[in-house]
Amino acid sequence: MTTFRTLDTADVSGKRVLLRVDLNVPMENGKVSDATRIERVLPTIREIADKGGKVILLAHFGRPKGPDPKESLKPVADELARHLGRPVGFAEDCIGPAAKAAVETMRPGDVICLENTRFHMAEERNEPDFVKALAENGDIWVNDAFSAAHRAHATTEGLGHVLPAYAGRTMQAEVEALSKALETPRKPVLAVVGGAKVSTKLDLLGNLVRKVDILVIGGGMANTFLAAQGKAIGKSLAERDLLGTATEILAKAKDAGCEIVLPVDAVVASEFKANAPSRVVDVDAVGPDDMILDIGPKSVEAVGEHLKRARTLVWNGPFGAFELTPFDAGTTAVAKQAAALTKSGALLSVAGGGDTVSALNHAGVADDFSYVSTAGGAFLEWLEGKPLPGVEVLRVR
Ligand code: 3PG
Ligand code: MG
Repeated sequence: MTTFRTLDTADVSGKRVLLRVDLNVPMENGKVSDATRIERVLPTIREIADKGGKVILLAHFGRPKGPDPKESLKPVADELARHLGRPVGFAEDCIGPAAKAAVETMRPGDVICLENTRFHMAEERNEPDFVKALAENGDIWVNDAFSAAHRAHATTEGLGHVLPAYAGRTMQAEVEALSKALETPRKPVLAVVGGAKVSTKLDLLGNLVRKVDILVIGGGMANTFLAAQGKAIGKSLAERDLLGTATEILAKAKDAGCEIVLPVDAVVASEFKANAPSRVVDVDAVGPDDMILDIGPKSVEAVGEHLKRARTLVWNGPFGAFELTPFDAGTTAVAKQAAALTKSGALLSVAGGGDTVSALNHAGVADDFSYVSTAGGAFLEWLEGKPLPGVEVLRVR
């Protein structure tokens, strides 16, 4: 495995450090509703500032098609300042005179945030002139935005070709955790893949059956596999045009020696609604009006037995409709067991993806996992085995 330059070897003192962070945080009524991503970048900001670097934050927010006050980073920068406990300056553009003027007044240890990089369409196109304009304000580039590393944009990738490039502490921790889980894992490796659709996770399933020893399939996508095995699934969510694909994945897993674990029982209801009257049935006994909304207790137990054998867990996607009680029970039970095994030292557990993180928070165990990634798309692409441009550019060649 190639390595990265990290902050251990970066000489930041007195330098202008362009620090790419992911501040793409959820907002409700103009307020940050989940500050996890903000919390994650604080150590890198503090370390650079405390070593006398000038911290110039680069980040995108939303998907604007040009400048748009509704997608300004200013409120996020203010929230960041509160978490950091230090002032964070702001410049109304990430290049040009506004950025230049703000950077020129900085002293060692200062922190400023430049406006949303996506106000320039050249950011996503990774245009050389834009990269050059950004680089004028920096001596080195530090990338701490793993969750945006699947984008080959100017600030996530382009800058790495024109400035000395380093991984920030969050990037470093993320890549180390993910490598431990899939590249050099303790075996057996168990992957849990849940979520609604097989179609969005075809590449991921294809890659995982070659890499892991046990693949536990849950969520709506398990229904497609059950249907492919000829089981009646009633009114359950499934992709009936993908039964052939599901069968192929099962065959691939067999060839690769990967054991596939599907639900053996299910919690079914006739409506998709919180507290809808429900019952537990074996997967062979799903009625025509039944909708599978969670795995049942026998399945939870079976997954638990596999977990006890495993040394490494990679988790993406919930088992059931975890946002509706009581259909969160399966996901919560498995999450708690994984957390307990992790705490006892028996398991290295890595989880990621938007829904997964909410499900683990809901179960109250996110802090007990070995590593929880805040990445959505980047985590999925990593599970698919794809190189991430924002990580590749950091490798020492
Ligand atoms: C995310 O929120 O997943 C990252 O910040 C990347 O955002 P994007 O999907 O808009 O590129
Ligand atoms: Mg996204």
